[in-house]
Amino acid sequence: MKKKLNIAIDGPAGAGKSTVAKMIASRLGLLYVDTGSMYRALTLKAINLNIGFSEKELVRLCEDLDIELVYENGECRVLLDGQDVTEEIRTPKVSQNVSFVASIPQVRENMVMRQQLMAKNGGVVMDGRDIGTRVMKNADFKFFLTASIEERARRRLIYLKEKGYDVSLSDVIAEISERDDIDKKRSVDPLVPAEDAIIIDTTDLTAEQVVDKMLSYIKI
Ligand code: DC
Repeated sequence: MKKKLNIAIDGPAGAGKSTVAKMIASRLGLLYVDTGSMYRALTLKAINLNIGFSEKELVRLCEDLDIELVYENGECRVLLDGQDVTEEIRTPKVSQNVSFVASIPQVRENMVMRQQLMAKNGGVVMDGRDIGTRVMKNADFKFFLTASIEERARRRLIYLKEKGYDVSLSDVIAEISERDDIDKKRSVDPLVPAEDAIIIDTTDLTAEQVVDKMLSYIKI
């Protein structure tokens, strides 16, 4: 049987990766894997245990972290120690600390290994920051989505307001600029497009338009 496709989608926060990754996965009958949710789950666990953010503790915690990605009605849900934390991992407290957690080389090594296992048999649309450059270097298709900082912040603001958070556009611009900065400058697998990635600027495009553009490159 022909191996199923693997599709890598990278880019900075708010570029629209998860929205289009879910749509592409559903159109092509592939599984959507949100790798950011794994770094977020580890960050949440550290917050819940109140252990602070020492590298040594985080590496230890990561080693026996019980995370599972499960699929319900086409939605990817995140289980941490068997509990559904899909919503909780998106709170500002987690967002503010996750880039630091994801910058620790041994944490990344552990997470990359788990993600490579998920991609081993093909059939995934995986989004993150290092998917095309590290996790799935041999992906069949690689995309790198970008958008202006204002547009990315505006998208995140809509999401946060819907969830009832009282934040301003300038707060969100500051938060995602800081995250991008840490993600781009870290020593291991920083956020950069893979040499063979197709770069799409989503600033003035709807999610459907981005998906159509991506599908135009995907020849099965
Ligand atoms: O995609 P997201 O915003 O949920 O990701 C949260 C953080 O995790 C992001 O700031 C960078 C990090 N991350 C990473 O370093 N590598 C990945 N493959 C996915 C996410």
